[in-house]
Amino acid sequence: MPHPDAPESLPLPAKNTLRRELRRRRRALTAREQRAASTALCRRLKTLPELLRARRVSLYLPAGGEIDPLPLLPWLYRRGVSVYLPVLRPLSANSLWFVAYRPGTPMVKNRFGIREPAVAFGARRANRLPAWALDTLIVPLVGFDEHANRMGMGGGFYDRTLAFMRRRGPKPTLIGVAHACQQASELPVEPWDIPLTTIATDTAVVRPRKRQAAD
Ligand SMILES: Nc1ncnc2c1ncn2[C@@H]1O[C@H](COP(=O)(O)OP(=O)(O)O)[C@@H](O)[C@H]1O
Ligand SMILES: [Mg+2]
Repeated sequence: MPHPDAPESLPLPAKNTLRRELRRRRRALTAREQRAASTALCRRLKTLPELLRARRVSLYLPAGGEIDPLPLLPWLYRRGVSVYLPVLRPLSANSLWFVAYRPGTPMVKNRFGIREPAVAFGARRANRLPAWALDTLIVPLVGFDEHANRMGMGGGFYDRTLAFMRRRGPKPTLIGVAHACQQASELPVEPWDIPLTTIATDTAVVRPRKRQAAD
């Protein structure tokens, strides 16, 4: 495991406390606030060049107060975009692959009670893609900061799945989406964290400032 004692690595309890607080915030939103946020987010997403260019896009089915990106679906389908959902990859430790989500995709409940494409459907190679083959990923998150750092649920699923972004080769666009209330002033960044390209919320688009080449 990379540098558990690195100075930038916050002690776990502090990180978990922040994670819990941010999750509590998004869960506290009413159904009405959720709907309004989702509408505002999707309106904003439709103006992003990174999404307008994309032909293969992953979304997610929201759970636990996550902002809902699904109103994008009809717009994406109309534009002929292929849409995918993240699914835990069988036989691979906690990483994701992306299964086609179109009318007729058979859905089941996974062990967390979240709907996802049936395993047999995703097992067919023609129905799925690895992350590097997507143009744009719409990524859920628990917290973000102004540098587009991301805090997830704590499983490191997206970090593991996107670890290839550190090497040469394809670099899909990563659009983190969240409620505005999920912004933290500064997130602890671990060596394995993959930063996002852009964050879109119900009130703003956050693009990180260009960093020094040495970063
Ligand atoms: N590329 C990777 N390879 C192996 N383990 C990883 C990788 N990325 C993350 N992890 C593991 O996932 C765990 C959770 O990562 P963390 O960044 O804290 O969660 P999240 O990104 O969900 O907020 C870490 O303790 C780390 O050990
Ligand atoms: Mg992480």
